[in-house]
Amino acid sequence: MSWDDLAAGWERWSQLTAEASAPVDRWFLDALAPAEGQTILDVGAGTGEAAFLIAEHVGPGGRVLVTDGSEAMVDTARLRARRLGLANVETAVMDAERLTLDDASVDAALCRWTLYLLEDPAAALREMARVVRPGGRVAVGVWAQPDENPLVPLVSLDLVRLGLYDPPPASSHSLDLEPALRDAGLTPVRVEEVPFHWRFASAREAWEYVADAGGAVSRVLRGVDDGTREELRAGYAEALAEAGYVAADGSVAVPALAVNGLGVRPAA
Ligand SMILES: C[S@@+](CC[C@H](N)C(=O)[O-])C[C@H]1O[C@@H](n2cnc3c(N)ncnc32)[C@H](O)[C@@H]1O
Repeated sequence: MSWDDLAAGWERWSQLTAEASAPVDRWFLDALAPAEGQTILDVGAGTGEAAFLIAEHVGPGGRVLVTDGSEAMVDTARLRARRLGLANVETAVMDAERLTLDDASVDAALCRWTLYLLEDPAAALREMARVVRPGGRVAVGVWAQPDENPLVPLVSLDLVRLGLYDPPPASSHSLDLEPALRDAGLTPVRVEEVPFHWRFASAREAWEYVADAGGAVSRVLRGVDDGTREELRAGYAEALAEAGYVAADGSVAVPALAVNGLGVRPAA
């Protein structure tokens, strides 16, 4: 699946995403403990949000390699890094399952919200374990099941009802991280759930976010006619209210549950 067509949508909402997912970013920072001068690799980095935070911690002598399989995502990340004045960020198009990096060439690696999208997540984890130096850390983030992450499912249920969408199996958003880290040759250190809320000024803003940055669902929404789109938008606003996610002032807070795992490459 190409992600090039979603890069602009991701960039448009990068600030909102960063604010909502701050607890996840803090977890990654704590898990990776990036130090001055280190080289940190982000795999499937999208527009680079998680990596940019880390860039501040490795200092001018360190490097953050922002990689993604989509050229448009990488281009966006490069421009954003430049705009943010992050001179220690390098970008490259790279397939997560076939990293074009030498063995033991980075100090640590992360992969947030990408593993479960890959054909072979185990291959990507093995690749991360290969390129991290002995003793180096690998931190990965996936999602708990869809009922714990209703933001997109509240739209996709309506799309399914209208015969417009065939959702992937529930298991495809998650991975059992502890055995996955172990099978890749890493020593699992911890696997933890990290709850947070997607926060929007209004139900309309929540809808626009999902329509722009909701992955496969965004693509389906682009293809529907205006009338159907309006019907879906109204249905989404109702579903948010029924679920109790809309406050008296109209603002919206939708719960989310991320699952993060940390592994270490055994010392040689
Ligand atoms: C849901 S986004 C997550 C982006 C980013 N890690 C974040 O947390 O904001 C998934 C990303 O995986 C990338 N991706 C999908 N398949 C890939 C592959 N085989 N190799 C590398 N990146 C891939 C997409 O281009 C997209 O940017």
